[in-house]
Amino acid sequence: VTARLARGDLAPAIVTPPPGPRSRQLASELAANEAPGVNTLGAHDEPAIVWAEALGANVLDVDGNRYVDWTAGFGVAAVGHRHPRVVAAVAAQAARLVHGLGDVAAHPTRVALAARLAALAPVDSPRVHFAVSGADAVEIALKSALAATGRPGILAFDPAYHGVTLGALAATSRHELRRPFEHHLHPHVRRLAYAAPPSAIERALAGDEVGAVVVEPVVGREGVLVPPPGWLAELAAAARAAGALLVVDEIFTGFGRTGPRFAVDRDGVRPDLLCLGKALGGGLPIAAVVGRREVMEVWRTAGEALHTATFLAHPLACAAALATLDVLEEERLVARARALGDTLGPRLAALAGGRAAVVATRGVGALWALELASAGIARRLVDACRARGVLVLAGGPEGRVVALAPPLVLTDAQLAASLAALAGALAATETADVV
Ligand SMILES: Cc1ncc(COP(=O)(O)O)c(C=O)c1O
Repeated sequence: VTARLARGDLAPAIVTPPPGPRSRQLASELAANEAPGVNTLGAHDEPAIVWAEALGANVLDVDGNRYVDWTAGFGVAAVGHRHPRVVAAVAAQAARLVHGLGDVAAHPTRVALAARLAALAPVDSPRVHFAVSGADAVEIALKSALAATGRPGILAFDPAYHGVTLGALAATSRHELRRPFEHHLHPHVRRLAYAAPPSAIERALAGDEVGAVVVEPVVGREGVLVPPPGWLAELAAAARAAGALLVVDEIFTGFGRTGPRFAVDRDGVRPDLLCLGKALGGGLPIAAVVGRREVMEVWRTAGEALHTATFLAHPLACAAALATLDVLEEERLVARARALGDTLGPRLAALAGGRAAVVATRGVGALWALELASAGIARRLVDACRARGVLVLAGGPEGRVVALAPPLVLTDAQLAASLAALAGALAATETADVV
């Protein structure tokens, strides 16, 4: 099979209005066999596009349309899709060992990755616990904090997205995701508005009940919210004073997305437990928690591992992660995220200026958002962008926030072409709104 996308630095090129006939056909075949909801049929029975290939910042769909991916594949493709270094590392690992044995038998690539993460993470006396997904990492972090403190309570924020397994879902705020399972969710969660003032935090932490304070340092898919400078440091201080452990979920923000390598770096915060995922694997599924050594001692047992998974620290994913960390450094992608932010901020503000459809623009580094006046407008904008070859996702508690989170390898030419497409999409969305 020869890939058709030979480069990943190209502008959008739409050859048939998406979703094209092949995407529609595959989407209906998928819907015939997969559980509803988790498939490519959208909420309005409008098929999503089916991806055939992706490289760098480009995605090619099965109908031959080429896009610029401003979702970075849910924030995963920081180094771009199918980075050659990542692909080569996976191929080399596949020639040696494809499967390891979770908690029973390690492999050298995993040993190297644990050392690398421990060296990178802004955590004192770091110890790494691998995980298979972001939600699994959140489970591990919450279990670590609750077991280490012996306290039942979790303080979480609104909005927040930490994953949808039962433990992580307790900390996730979105009502629609929680409602069918509300009888089964952890009953000891207290929730404050994101960036709540220190006095409210101190009140919520009073009573020595709370063992884990779990927070996104910048809210990602729940609407892209950047807390005021210093807020995270105040939260960390309040948690420490109350004897609770600070769990920072950098699954979205980690590895450069917001400008510094980790979003906590902006406030100089050193979490007790740091959750990592998404970009870490360069496209392969891997996540991790880096915790303080004393906290991670809760996992020491004489018998079976208390938390593990069949595919824990998967060799291919560990190899991909090591290559990804190399690429982030060698291509100076954290600095690139900052530079993207410097351009995107004023350009988005200019695009949005005077448009009634846009309530606000905000963001930092390579994570930005357009907050629209309604979910309907946001949906139309997503479609209008796609029709112009720019992939974006709507999120936020009411689905009104269109997030912009491109691969950090996005070129200046791709940036310019995408912003032109976004301007056209905004104009078309507003016109449609009037009609
Ligand atoms: C901040 C944050 N935490 C956790 C998760 C869950 O990760 P996963 O989808 O890999 O379970 C996500 C996914 O979007 C996330 O953005």
